[in-house]
Amino acid sequence: MSLNLRTLDDIDLQNKKVFLRVDFNIPINNGVVGDCTRIEASLPTIREIRQKGGRIALFSHLGRPNGCVNPKYSLKPLIKVLEEYFPNTPIVFKEGDYIQNPENFWQNTDENTIILAENIRFYEDEEKNDIGFAKKLAQLADIMVNDAFATCHRSHASIVAITQFLPSFAGRLLESELTSLYHFYIQGKQPFMAMIGGAKISSKIEVLKKIIPKIQILGIGGGMANTFLLAQGYFIGKSLAESGQISIAKDILQQCQKLNKKVILPIDVVVAEELSPNTKVTIKNIDELSENDCIFDIGPKTIALLKNALNESKTLLWNGPLGAFETKPFDQGTHQFAQYATLLTKEKKITSITGGGDSVAALASLGLEKDFSYVSTGGGAFLEWIEGRIMPGLEVLFKNNPASCAILF
Ligand code: 3PG
Repeated sequence: MSLNLRTLDDIDLQNKKVFLRVDFNIPINNGVVGDCTRIEASLPTIREIRQKGGRIALFSHLGRPNGCVNPKYSLKPLIKVLEEYFPNTPIVFKEGDYIQNPENFWQNTDENTIILAENIRFYEDEEKNDIGFAKKLAQLADIMVNDAFATCHRSHASIVAITQFLPSFAGRLLESELTSLYHFYIQGKQPFMAMIGGAKISSKIEVLKKIIPKIQILGIGGGMANTFLLAQGYFIGKSLAESGQISIAKDILQQCQKLNKKVILPIDVVVAEELSPNTKVTIKNIDELSENDCIFDIGPKTIALLKNALNESKTLLWNGPLGAFETKPFDQGTHQFAQYATLLTKEKKITSITGGGDSVAALASLGLEKDFSYVSTGGGAFLEWIEGRIMPGLEVLFKNNPASCAILF
């Protein structure tokens, strides 16, 4: 498949100063850096630009500091991480108001240096996609390379407006996300199963609507399953649900019925009165809940149904946990599903695709993140891609934008 994207193949990088937009929005707690998957995913782009004679300044956001300088969201802890990936390479950190004096930006650096700029969202104009701010950013470099697939759904200055002022290209990660998603999702073999979980149905409505025609089996888990159970007339005690979304849940169930799609909702659940590790838990059939019950996970009969569904499938799209997996013992539904999906993937019985913070975190907590066929670095961007939206950060990188962008969907 030809993507029609402007890529590193379309540019002479020799002696070029590169504004490299990456997504290093990774867990950093009290200066301790967590999962580095997103950094590792951009290493091929960084290495290739360097090999071809380009000089690199990395720009990323971290968290949502709302346009204010906040040490909690500093990228400083990444200096050490980058030093490990690039031994013998000076990593120069740029903090303060680095856009005001563009002539100083590359001072005291040479072709071997990698610049890491402080969190771009410390500037309030970043999220406004401000043209004046983007123009100033553009003065820092000769070309812009976007490797931040996970941020392409945001119309922000370092992703979108900057492309008005600098020749702009897709990095290798961005390119590989698009080709892989096309290969694994668009060309995924039937029968196709989607397992959609997470807390809220409201954030997944568009995804659900988009995938139903494509799939044969829809598994629904996590907090959002509660709203579907209400739509089916079950009593769910004190479990969280979105009462405003019941009619949407009914529409989705009707659409599945009309198109003859199999829907798997919890038939048994793990309930407790509160979400805590030491709480008393009970497994109940879905028609047995009482006043004080709160659903925190799917039960063993539902897990067995989902495993059977996986046995019938050739492709799995998974997004969102099946229960409150971060609190034991409510991790079983998510973990057993993830383990079985990776087992079938290893046995080459299914092709498995996932993306999104929680699903990837669940896989990572089991050390299984490398065992899915494809794990996207995108969270919101991954979902928007599945929804078929033309993302603003991608649109500006296509050769004949925006029409050629549509080829992907
Ligand atoms: C993500 O983690 O999904 C991206 O980095 C985008 O972050 P945001 O939702 O804060 O824009």
